[in-house]
Amino acid sequence: MHAFAQVEAVYEKFGAEEPFYAVLTYDQYKRDQLDPEQFFGTGEKLIDERMQALAARQLTVDRTRALDFGCGVGRLTNALARHFDEVVGVDVSSTMIRQANDLRRQENCSFVVNKRQDLSIFPEGHFSFVYSDITIQHIPTPAAENYIRDFLRLLTPGGLALFLVPDGPQHVPGSPAARWDRFYREQFRPFYKRIRGKHAVQIHRLAQHRVAQLIAESSGQLLAVEPHPQWSQKSKRYKPLYYWATKGGSATGVRRASAPHSHS
Ligand SMILES: C[S@@+](CC[C@H](N)C(=O)[O-])C[C@H]1O[C@@H](n2cnc3c(N)ncnc32)[C@H](O)[C@@H]1O
Repeated sequence: MHAFAQVEAVYEKFGAEEPFYAVLTYDQYKRDQLDPEQFFGTGEKLIDERMQALAARQLTVDRTRALDFGCGVGRLTNALARHFDEVVGVDVSSTMIRQANDLRRQENCSFVVNKRQDLSIFPEGHFSFVYSDITIQHIPTPAAENYIRDFLRLLTPGGLALFLVPDGPQHVPGSPAARWDRFYREQFRPFYKRIRGKHAVQIHRLAQHRVAQLIAESSGQLLAVEPHPQWSQKSKRYKPLYYWATKGGSATGVRRASAPHSHS
């Protein structure tokens, strides 16, 4: 099976069996132990921190419409809906989206299944904010690169994209190192997980300068790159980076902070 189709199949199954544990792989999020308030609380805390980080950079963004890419059961979509007028969560897994609809906590958020390897279901300039956390890492190239390009295409001029991608080496395409890395991430590790009775989730990486290149090619401007606050301490091998990018070659629409508004 193609690597992208494998990811889709894994999350369809994971979403049907253990949708919360599929998002945060700690035992406390298994169905029989779940405290939904605590689970959704983790999303609110994370999004509040991201909004504070925005303010700390003295930046503000138009709060009209946000996209949560790879929304799962809507942990972060609902949290974003406390800060934006409207939020759309999109996910490749219909079982995840079914849960997200059943558990929806804010009226101004909605959920969409997208099985395409790009975001062409949305028109250019549709979102003032695009967010994605712990999702791009599960998507093989070239789909991951398509989505990053589309984050910029979907932004209104001056809108802001904030997304997490683990850093890794940039192998020369077609080289033995590139072929090995691809085999290891798309085939070997998922197989190894499967034979140990685990869900065969894939973990991918993109080199920082490749992400910067994708942003630049898409008329974007990279504003900042920062390590994930918790994971950068915990692991030497997994180095997720948050990318802040705006659209249009200058940060004109990303303005100096004014009083934030909140739906909560
Ligand atoms: C670890 S979960 C994170 C969910 C959510 N971002 C959160 O933090 O609560 C990863 C999610 O990415 C979704 N995903 C994987 N590949 C995707 C793709 N190509 N397009 C959209 N979502 C995808 C999975 O279905 C899953 O819901």
